[in-house]
Amino acid sequence: MRKKILAANWKMNLSATEAQEWLTQFKSGVSDQQLVEFRLYAPNVFIQHLSEDEEMHVGAQNVHPADFGAFTGETSISQLKSVGAQSVLIGHSERRTYFHESDSFLKEKVDACCAHFFPFIFCCGEDLGTRNGGGHLSFVKKQLEAAIFQLNPQEVSLLTIAYEPIWAIGTGQTATTDQINEVHAYIRSILTEKFGENGANVSILYGGSVNQGNAQGIFSCPDVDGGLIGGASLNAFDFLELASSF
Ligand code: 13P
Repeated sequence: MRKKILAANWKMNLSATEAQEWLTQFKSGVSDQQLVEFRLYAPNVFIQHLSEDEEMHVGAQNVHPADFGAFTGETSISQLKSVGAQSVLIGHSERRTYFHESDSFLKEKVDACCAHFFPFIFCCGEDLGTRNGGGHLSFVKKQLEAAIFQLNPQEVSLLTIAYEPIWAIGTGQTATTDQINEVHAYIRSILTEKFGENGANVSILYGGSVNQGNAQGIFSCPDVDGGLIGGASLNAFDFLELASSF
C-alpha cells in the first residue's frame, strides 16, 4: 500500500523556542481523521525534545554511515535512534552540492540504514542544465542505480523516494504537473521492474517550492504520494493546510 506522506524539512531553520511553538501550533490544528502521515525532519539538536511527542514522526536530515568513531560533527544511526529519530533523509541535493556527498557515499548511508533497519527518504533530482538538455530521466535513474539498486525486497520496505528537481528548490519555480508526473511514473516503473510489487508500493514524494497555491495540482498527480516541504513547512499552520490538498 502506498502511504500518503507530508514531510516538513526545516533545513537549518528555527530556534529551540520556535521549534516548540511550531509543535504546539501543529498539535492544536491536526486532527485524528487526517489520512496523511506527517513527518518532521528537524535539526538534530531538536530531535530528542520534539520526539517526546509520541504521535509525531520526527526524523533527521542527515546521518553518517559509520556506527561510531572519529568523525567530528557527525551523528550515527544508533545515536539518532537513541534520541527518538524514526527515519532520515539521504541524498538531499543540498548535501550533494554543498557537502560534496557522492553517490558512493550515499550508498554507504543507505546500506547502513538497511543494516540498522532504519527507514529513510532517498532524495533524487536533476539540475536545470540537465533538465534543459532533456537528460533528466536518465540522470535520476543513475542516482537510483548508484545508491538503492542493491536493496533486497525486505529492505525496500524502508525506502521512500523524494523527487526534488534542484531548479525548483527554494526558487519559487515549481515543476509543472506534467513534468512531475513524468518523473514520478518513471521512478515507479524503475522500482517496479527492479523490486516487483514491493517496488510498486514505495511512496514517491515531490519536493520543490510546494505551497498552498500549487499543492492541490501536485498532490492529485497519480504517481505523487505526498511532499517534502521546505519553506512552506516553517509555519505549522501553512504546513498543516497542505494536507487538505490531497
Ligand atoms: P522548498 O519547499 O523550500 O523549495 O524546499 C524543498 C526541499 O528542499 C525539501 O527538502
